[in-house]
Amino acid sequence: MRLRLPWRAAGWRRAGSFEACLFALLPGLLGLAAAQAAASPDTGVRALGRVETRYLLRCGGCHGTQGRSPETNVPSLSGQVGWFLCTAEGRSYLLRLPNVTRAPLSDAELAELMNWVVFRLGGASVPANAQPFTAEEVQAARARPLLSTTLVADRQEIVSSLMQRCSAPASLAAYGRNRGGGDAVLRVR
Ligand code: HEC
Repeated sequence: MRLRLPWRAAGWRRAGSFEACLFALLPGLLGLAAAQAAASPDTGVRALGRVETRYLLRCGGCHGTQGRSPETNVPSLSGQVGWFLCTAEGRSYLLRLPNVTRAPLSDAELAELMNWVVFRLGGASVPANAQPFTAEEVQAARARPLLSTTLVADRQEIVSSLMQRCSAPASLAAYGRNRGGGDAVLRVR
């Protein structure tokens, strides 16, 4: 099959001078954009990336804008979530969590978000040989969401194993330790 490139087609030949004009103008336009960027005052406000914005919208309300939350009702992610990648069940726990599987994102977007959560927020807690999540892995996990009513206890079991097998710190077990019972979050004080 011969590839028909648009600029080779007859109708486009006439547009040659227009293209030439555009190329002549290009350096000027780029220069203008650079000048504008340089002229804009430094407000100290940092532009948020796509993934960070998604995290703030969908997760940050519970887990904290920097992934730090009081461990009473929601586990902190900052500097510790990476430990879960040390075992197969820890890794699958992360992807099968109800708030994670049900996030209104595509499999690829969720993989990207979870990689940001684990590798960025988790920082040094990520094991050296940890592999990033893929869209296929997210899809498979979404077919088996954690629906257990004993989620806190299930997490404690996973964490005990991470402490034994991977030398995860005891602080990983802080979440859920002092909860009065399953309804602690909802109880009106
Ligand atoms: C309504 C509050 C809430 C929202 C919103 C929420 N989470 Fe969570 N998240 C929790 C709770 C509670 C747990 C602990 C689950 C358990 O008991 O095992 C948790 C656990 C986690 C964990 C495992 C951490 C650990 O130490 O057990 C990760 C990772 C996580 N959430 C990521 C997310 C992401 C990503 C989003 C956004 C798409 C999100 N969460 C939205 C409340 C929330």
